[in-house]
Amino acid sequence: SFEINRRIFLWSGAALAASATSLAQTPARRAPRAASETFKPDVDIELICRRDQVPILPGKPTQVWRYAGNLLNGPPQTLTPMPDSYLGPLMRFVKGQRVRLRLRNELPEQTITHWHGLHVPMEADGHPMAAIEPGETYVYEFDVRNRASLNFYHPHTHETTATQVYHGLAGGLIVEDEEERALGLPSGAYEIPLVLQDRSFDDNNQLAYWGGMHRDMFGFYGERILVNGRPDFRLEVDSRAYRFRILNGSNARIYKLLWDDGTPLTVIGVDGGLLEKPERRPYVMLAPAERVDLWVDFSGRAVGSKLVMRSGAFEGLVPPMAQRMMGSGLFVGDEYPLFTATVARAVSDSPKLPEKLSTIRRYRPDDIANRDTPRPIELSMGHMAVMLNGRVYGHDDVMDIERIPVDTVQLFEIYHAQGGGMGMGMGMGMGMGMGGRGMGGMGMRRMGMGGGMMGGGMGMMGMMNMAHPIHLHGQPFEILSRSYEGDDPEAYATIREGLIDSGLKDTVLVAHGETIRIAKPFSDFKGRFMYHCHNLEHEDMGMMREFSVE
Ligand code: C2O
Ligand code: CU
Repeated sequence: SFEINRRIFLWSGAALAASATSLAQTPARRAPRAASETFKPDVDIELICRRDQVPILPGKPTQVWRYAGNLLNGPPQTLTPMPDSYLGPLMRFVKGQRVRLRLRNELPEQTITHWHGLHVPMEADGHPMAAIEPGETYVYEFDVRNRASLNFYHPHTHETTATQVYHGLAGGLIVEDEEERALGLPSGAYEIPLVLQDRSFDDNNQLAYWGGMHRDMFGFYGERILVNGRPDFRLEVDSRAYRFRILNGSNARIYKLLWDDGTPLTVIGVDGGLLEKPERRPYVMLAPAERVDLWVDFSGRAVGSKLVMRSGAFEGLVPPMAQRMMGSGLFVGDEYPLFTATVARAVSDSPKLPEKLSTIRRYRPDDIANRDTPRPIELSMGHMAVMLNGRVYGHDDVMDIERIPVDTVQLFEIYHAQGGGMGMGMGMGMGMGMGGRGMGGMGMRRMGMGGGMMGGGMGMMGMMNMAHPIHLHGQPFEILSRSYEGDDPEAYATIREGLIDSGLKDTVLVAHGETIRIAKPFSDFKGRFMYHCHNLEHEDMGMMREFSVE
């Protein structure tokens, strides 16, 4: 029955791919951007995208694609290589710095890099239309306008983002500012970036991007967790406070972060920087591209004691059968370990957790240009494509609701309310005697696979019910409200408790049945800025659109 299911998915996926590409127009590519003579950078970096190999598993090294950095000018802390990893160097910018980045493409295909989270002009945003050919260089120039935050750089080519990131092209980018420095948070060896990713390997230790069309529909789920590019990641720590800055760099996997001994998580920041005050949670849900900043205090823990971060069990966001059909052994909704911290040294002092972390200027209704008429971002699936506002990505295909006056704050309503269950009209529900979420979504594993045809139908329904991490480029937004009208309030309530909505966000996880209101500023720069699902397979399938800021 697995074979039959796989064939159904190949067929449906092919239809999906065809409909996605027919809407996308053939790009008129822009010429690569050169360095300007008037821009005087404080920081000048050469970033090369190239093939390399790194030892990941015992035995043969793994062929990867990666970012290699050279600091041409600027403070030495600007670039820190990630040891034994395919990840690009950790970048560290200071608010107010003028940055030049020269991206050189030494890959065998087009690429372009996006600085996820940074508020930069369109020419520096890594628009898919700016992709450069092998051998070309693209020069980015921008001022660092962000508040202190952990950001994420990665490729942003249309239809190849997922494979490029999967093969290793990704890195962390920290912005620092005065407000944060004044707090004296743990820094240096006590501030640890942790990039969570999942990968599968073949018998030769090479990255396997398994799953075919089925993977494209649900996203890729790997069989091994890598932290900073390493399997079985371990840290040795002092008995004092640390700052763990976690980025979910996975293509599609959602984590439910928790400590194995039940210690609550102390959250001090999210995507757009520090919260106003720390929040304690039993666990935190972290979807692709989301970041969470944790205060982790090992004070008083005995030398030799261990604390394990795990991803806890949950239901309701990803249909488990999505992974079963790919043959992945590590289900999103099961519990599994991520990394281990062992107390190696006893020390007597430790910084104290500040009660107040930052000031976030909240929008008042008067600040919002369209307070009574929210702009929609509707998540849906139709004609076997994943869509935003009923359409897949197409160059120069801006709808009226996507035209935004510059220097305004806009209210958006993001919703994902399309019914699950029967009646897809795709001929995929064959053999299904019943509909409803319980069958199509998370109930699947309990029921077993059933017949092959049935599995096919249920896969489609599962997809309808999937959660999507929605990212808007540019400045971060404020989450104003969430409401839920789905059919599993219990599973949703569990998810809800792990969502940190009090800080500034650039990516928000949208569950099936949810309506989320956000207020997002579009300041300073006109041009085209993307919004899309950060399940990278969905993004590549066309679940991406652009705003025209005018
Ligand atoms: Cu992290 Cu448009 O991407
Ligand atoms: Cu999606």
